[in-house]
Formats: sequence, C-alpha cells, structure tokens
Amino acid sequence: MAVRQIKPDVYWVGAIDWDRRLFDELIPLPDGTSYNAYLVKGSEKTALIDTVDPTKKDHLFRNLDKLGLDNLDYVVVNHAEQDHSGTLPDVLARYPTAKIVTNAKCRPMLQDLLLIPDERFVEIKDRDVLSLGDRSLEFILVPWVHWPETMMTYLKEERVLFTCDFFGTHLATGALFAGDDPTILPAAKRYYAEIMMPYRNNIKKHLEKVAELDVDIIAPSHGPLHNRPELIIDAYRDWVGDQTKNEVVIAHLSMHGSTQRMVDYFIDALIDRDIAVKPFHLTGVDLGRLATAIVDASTIILASPTVLVGAHPGAVSAAYLINALRPKTKYASFIGSYGWGSKAVEQLTGMLSNLKVEIIEPVLAKGYPRAEDFAALDALADEIRAKHAASAP
Ligand code: FEO
Repeated sequence: MAVRQIKPDVYWVGAIDWDRRLFDELIPLPDGTSYNAYLVKGSEKTALIDTVDPTKKDHLFRNLDKLGLDNLDYVVVNHAEQDHSGTLPDVLARYPTAKIVTNAKCRPMLQDLLLIPDERFVEIKDRDVLSLGDRSLEFILVPWVHWPETMMTYLKEERVLFTCDFFGTHLATGALFAGDDPTILPAAKRYYAEIMMPYRNNIKKHLEKVAELDVDIIAPSHGPLHNRPELIIDAYRDWVGDQTKNEVVIAHLSMHGSTQRMVDYFIDALIDRDIAVKPFHLTGVDLGRLATAIVDASTIILASPTVLVGAHPGAVSAAYLINALRPKTKYASFIGSYGWGSKAVEQLTGMLSNLKVEIIEPVLAKGYPRAEDFAALDALADEIRAKHAASAP
C-alpha cells in the first residue's frame, strides 16, 4: 500500500481491497472496495480517523510505520461497523496511550462489538471541537447514514470533511481523487442504493449540514476522495430528492415461459409508449444493479409465476429487498401466470408495505397468456404512461 498525502500533514493510510467480491455476504462488489483511514498530524497531537477492515490491518500498520508513527493520541471513530472499526483492538494494543474519540451512541456499540474497555474512550457531543494544536477536528453527528451512531469529522484548517460511509463508493482504484472521472458517479449511485437509500430522508437533512461547511475535499472511507465535492453533493441531492423518472423496473422470472411471454410483451408495450424500461431477470441477478435501477424509477413491476399458490421464491426475495431499500418509487404492479389459483398478488402487495406506492391493477393470466391478457398488459402500460405524465415535473 502507498501512503498518500492529501493536505499538509494529512495522509491517506488505508487499504485497497482489490479482490473482495461480497460485502455482508450480500452486496456484490464487482470492482472491489477500499477502507480509507486518515492520519492528521497537529503541532501537539496526532489523530487517526477510522481504521480498516481487520483483514487488512497489516496494510494500515505498514502505512503508519512508513510515516514513522511511534505515538498516537487519538483514534476518531465515525462509525462502529467493523469494516472501519474492526482493527481498533489492534490499534489500541499497538498505541497503548491512544484514546478512542467518538459519540455517546457509538461508544457502547464499539464496546459490544469489539469488547473495548471503558477507559479507552473520550466521548464527544455534536459540534464539539478537539484541538490537535495547530489543527482542530469538529464532530458533526449525522445519525442513520446508515447506522444510528454515524458522524462526520471536519478538519477546519484544511477544509477536509471525513464522512466515513457517507459519499462512499465500493471501488478499488489507485486513483486517490475522483476528480470528474465519469465512472465514479455511477459507482457512487450503486453504493447509495445499496447502503444509504433506506435512510433517504435522514440524508436529505444531513446534506444541508454539509452545505453549510466550507469543504475542499470530501474524504469518505470507501473509494476515491471527492476533490470536486459539488459533483457528489449534487448527485446525492438528485438521488434523495422526491422526483422520479419516466422509467419502469421489471423484476421477473418464469418457470415454463408463460410469465416470460407476458414480460416480453409488456417490455415492448412500454417502449412503444416512450417509457424507459429496465428488466432484471431474477435468476442470478446482480442485486446492486437492481438496487441502482430503483433509485429513481417511477414504477416497479414484479413478474412471477405461481408456486405453491404464492409467488416464486425468487420474486419474494426481490420484493423483500425492494421493500427494505425503501425507494421513492410512486407506482407498483404485478404480472404473472398461474395454473389453478394464486395468492401471489396479495402476498407481494403485503411485502411492499414500506413503500409509499399506489398499486396499479395487476395482470394475471391463467396458463399461457391469451388475447385478453395482452389487452390487459396494454391497459397497464397505458395507465403507467398516464400516471408518469401526471407526476412529471
Ligand atoms: Fe463501510 Fe457501514 O461500513
């Protein structure tokens, strides 16, 4: 790993995880990730801001050795999740006088997760300032991005905002800064969709706190740093805003082709009506791509055959995920086929209870779709077009 200086006496000392392909045994990482940690040297005190995933602790320690760090005063913990905090016990053992600086919500979480003793903590409150001598760190609580204890740390003198997961990107890259690289925002959107979207309304408020600060660099704990902060802030404003796009996401699967025929017909019907369509075949789907697609789609369609009187487990799983991610989607519906009876619509409707969506009349075909089923799909596409037009800006 390479130590990188980002400002005078401010260093990136984290680890790039080029090969990680799954996070939380759930989230695909097609492009790896990084665990960014930062060292801030003041004239009197030195602070490490966040640590790294415990699998990469040797990288962190090699970086600190490269900087000749034989004493550490503080470890600021912005977030208790172990990909940033997991190396704390080793850091505390290596630097026996170092204190953890964090807030009252984070402290007990670190004690529960990592069994860290009470005497190693310095507890701070919102907007407290910690002096390092000629530098100072201000702490700004931003709960629920994406845990209840999350905060940001602002290095006033250098105008660097350390945001941990907030504004992060699961992206392994040797580039320190995002600049205006066109590949960064799509990756950041995917990260937002997977991690932050359920807390959209909290993030909306926190963006205002960020806007009040004079920031040169946003330094998250995953992916590149944002040295053009307005780009990522504007993108977040768009993602958390209430406006949706004239798009339909179709999450679908089929067992013997009947539902697939309905999906194929429906895709064409939407295209004929100038509605953007994003179909996702649920077998082997990249959940990150599906999550990204629902960030701003106006409508979500679940398409499933009937299995044991209910929806196919693949569609149930997709409904569970969509409901948990709480997108700002305005409309939803269901299409599919059944052999002799189905409770799939009631089941899937019940599973989307977190969403503030209007359910549009579903289309279910008994067996292979017939002319009347295709007519019903046309009617569904017409209704979607009308509703999208009515809710357009
Ligand atoms: Fe990157 Fe919520 O941890």
